[in-house]
Amino acid sequence: MSMNAKKPLSFRLATAEDVDQLVEIEARAGDVGWGPKAFLGEIEQQGIDGAYLWVLTDDETDTAIHAYIAARISPQSHTDDLEPKLDILNLVVDLPYRRQGLGRKCLQTAVQAGLRAKANKARLNVRKTNAGALAMYQGVGFVITRVRKAFYSTGDDAYELELGLLGAPDSF
Ligand SMILES: CC(C)(COP(=O)(O)OP(=O)(O)OC[C@H]1O[C@@H](n2cnc3c(N)ncnc32)[C@H](O)[C@@H]1OP(=O)(O)O)[C@@H](O)C(=O)NCCC(=O)NCCS
Repeated sequence: MSMNAKKPLSFRLATAEDVDQLVEIEARAGDVGWGPKAFLGEIEQQGIDGAYLWVLTDDETDTAIHAYIAARISPQSHTDDLEPKLDILNLVVDLPYRRQGLGRKCLQTAVQAGLRAKANKARLNVRKTNAGALAMYQGVGFVITRVRKAFYSTGDDAYELELGLLGAPDSF
């Protein structure tokens, strides 16, 4: 078998045992990112608050995390004046696995959960300078809705992006 043969991968929800690995991957991604408390907080909210943290692992051991995506759906069901929305909070593909379509797969998993919850749009923020991520989001149909000045603690600006989910986009 060649070293590059792609292993089968599947998504599952993260558990507390994944936190150390998630923190390592986040640190490798090089951002001022989430620490153990943030990951554990999202894991504890799962199933309660429309919170999801999916990890993409190899089917063989189910332990090697290749990528993850955190999202929230709120409110969790349609009310008279509030439509559910899908907020994507964090998405990282570990360095060796980039440019293989895994980032797009993570987005697809979150969007599918949003569609099941009848969310009318997906939203996220991305650093203005993060050209790779912007290309990925715009490639699946996200559009820039505004600039958020000094959105990050580093003082960096963000773009807010949105993708309409009504009419079931099949841009993935
Ligand atoms: C952004 C990120 C999630 C993309 O993950 P990925 O698995 O490499 O992305 P995909 O392979 O699914 O890419 C899908 C498309 O997005 C675009 N894209 C992704 N990374 C890109 C890059 N570095 N430069 C230019 N275009 C890029 C391409 O159009 C790509 O399609 P192609 O490979 O067929 O040309 C990954 O680079 C990452 O984890 N970065 C660090 C964390 C981060 O920036 N997260 C997003 C913050 S909101």
